[in-house]
Amino acid sequence: MSEQIIKLLKAGGFVSGALIGKELGITRSALWKRINSLREKGFKIEASPGKGYRLIDTPDFSVEELRTLIKGQIGKEIIFIKKTSSTNDLARGMEPLHGTVFIADTQTKGRGRLGRLWVSPPNSNIYMSIILKPDILPKDATLLTLISAVSSTRALREQTGIDVTIKWPNDLMIGSRKLGGILLEVRSEPDRIVFALAGIGININMPIKSLPLELRAVSTSILEETGKRFKRTYLIARILNEMEAVLNMPRAFLLNEWRALSSTLGKQVAVTTSNETIKGLAVDIDNEGRLILKTPDGSIKNISSGDLIHLR
Ligand code: BTN
Repeated sequence: MSEQIIKLLKAGGFVSGALIGKELGITRSALWKRINSLREKGFKIEASPGKGYRLIDTPDFSVEELRTLIKGQIGKEIIFIKKTSSTNDLARGMEPLHGTVFIADTQTKGRGRLGRLWVSPPNSNIYMSIILKPDILPKDATLLTLISAVSSTRALREQTGIDVTIKWPNDLMIGSRKLGGILLEVRSEPDRIVFALAGIGININMPIKSLPLELRAVSTSILEETGKRFKRTYLIARILNEMEAVLNMPRAFLLNEWRALSSTLGKQVAVTTSNETIKGLAVDIDNEGRLILKTPDGSIKNISSGDLIHLR
């Protein structure tokens, strides 16, 4: 119901209470209560006797407005919680319905890759986990990381105008600083993926001084880069709608899109896997999203996961 009110008010100008009440089949006083509850969530709504209601501004984030912007299956179900340990943990306990999204304003135990901590202060960043049930083989699960990275990068570029790039496999970067990352967790059987969780964390309106000292030189946020605050509702909506499109792309398109957005290809890199560190030239990614590395002795290695640094 709140979503319908937002949609009607977004048409612009004053909308009469009688009209909204009629559209929604509710009384004036019921509408008044709804309007007040939207105000409590940060919507600025002017009320003028005889004219009706006018939307002046929307909050940085609201699940009600987000729902009005979703176009497909990804984000059809949204579960928002102000504070949780980790949205990936929250999502894991739920019925795995493709496209369900879990969003938190803050995480007390946000997790990064390789057991690292993901700093997750409130009122500033995006922390969300998306349940995906794609029809792909477990060996191709890495593609879901590429899909998440491509969707997020496209959305951020379009909404902020900044040249966000992807450092293999899934770091969202601005120059040499990290803006966001993706934590993919997969539950699979030998021949199928039961479901995957794409956990996406992106620093949006966080001043960099909110981070521990050791992270400040290597991290950034959209606020830090532009001096401007961006509404999380619109960024999240764009990411989810992009994901819908990117999930349906033929694989060759997806890989090409990733190549075009990546800052890793063509660079000398060092990749630390679970048992070794390999240096070489990042030549390409293969059909499964693995990094193709040409080592100094000329041999070619396909690497499926690891921690990568750009050397030059
Ligand atoms: C990385 O190390 O680059 C991955 C960071 C992933 C962080 C996100 S925030 C939402 C989701 N919940 C978590 O605990 N982690 C992921």
